[in-house]
Amino acid sequence: MPGMRAVIKGIGSAVPSRIMTNHDFEAILDTSDEWITKRTGVKERHLLGEGETSSTLATTAAKQALENANLKPDDLDLIICATVSPDMPFPAVACLVQDAIGAVGVPAFDLSAACSGFIYALSVGSQFIETGKYKRVMVIGVDALSRFCDYTDRGSCILFGDAAGAVVLEASEDQTKGIEYTVLHTDGSGWDYIHVPGGGTAKPTSQKTLDDGEHYVKMRGRDVYKFAVEKMQWLLGDCMEKCNLSVDDVDLVVPHQVNIRIIESATKKYNFPMDKVYVNIDRYGNTSAASIPLALSEAVAAGKAGPGSTIVMVAFGAGLTWAGAVVKM
Ligand code: UT7
Repeated sequence: MPGMRAVIKGIGSAVPSRIMTNHDFEAILDTSDEWITKRTGVKERHLLGEGETSSTLATTAAKQALENANLKPDDLDLIICATVSPDMPFPAVACLVQDAIGAVGVPAFDLSAACSGFIYALSVGSQFIETGKYKRVMVIGVDALSRFCDYTDRGSCILFGDAAGAVVLEASEDQTKGIEYTVLHTDGSGWDYIHVPGGGTAKPTSQKTLDDGEHYVKMRGRDVYKFAVEKMQWLLGDCMEKCNLSVDDVDLVVPHQVNIRIIESATKKYNFPMDKVYVNIDRYGNTSAASIPLALSEAVAAGKAGPGSTIVMVAFGAGLTWAGAVVKM
């Protein structure tokens, strides 16, 4: 007898209301709207305002996903939150969300895989459903890297924005729907390509770590770029091959929104027409773990994906991590 499938029952997303445009950067950095637009595709990004945190964004997205799924907080069996920018080192953002939405007693934990985090969490969440352990799992991706950006480093800060996205997975016997395939990879030898050196057990926060700016994101942009193009191409090929899909069979590619040039080089390799590739990087920048669920929620709202659609998701990020998923809506 075939097992259970994990289907996406509801989707939600949230972005802060404060917007920082490329022109705003021109005022504080030696940069230009033209350079940022041409090299990255980003025009503006939403950044946390006062009183907002990763968990407040994640809570808004989670409530929206529950409403969209027509479910109540106590219908959930598990909450998984992918993030590398928690409100505080511990407890997990997932615990704060659990409390804020009133999912009393529901187990909740965070998962750290940077920009690949949402696909990692989708894979973990779907396993709990496929094994029959749980019926409904909330999977959240949230990051607010603006809190870790060095706004004097023009090579990194212009890329990032803050957001959250969430899906509710539900068990279904319908084998034609749900999470069809996930692939996860890591190469820890590239840990220093993108990292925040200070504030952990290696370099606990001190006056020196603060003076040296070690609480900020350090990124080897060029190296990450090369890695990103190669892995995004590989992931697209692997997802299509393992699920026996041609470009025609795929309704929408939802790539990690990191740099329009990376997305275009990866999808061009397989001749994906750009109207089959969801892009919103111009409005949000790189929102890390939130990027894919935010794009998915917009794509569904815009009618670019819906019941019956076959979606391929691909992401890469710090770790180094990379991950892909094929989802039948
Ligand atoms: O989720 C994963 C997170 N990160 C990534 O995926 C990052 C991937 N990497 C990238 O997207 C790109 O490498 C960047 C957008 C970060 C940089 O673009 P690039 O085309 O690779 O530029 P580059 O680092 O090779 O720099 C070229 C020039 C340099 O000047 P010189 O040395 O040629 O005089 C930089 O100093 O562009 C300069 N530059 C800038 N100029 C204006 C770097 N950042 C800026 C800027 N404005 N914001």
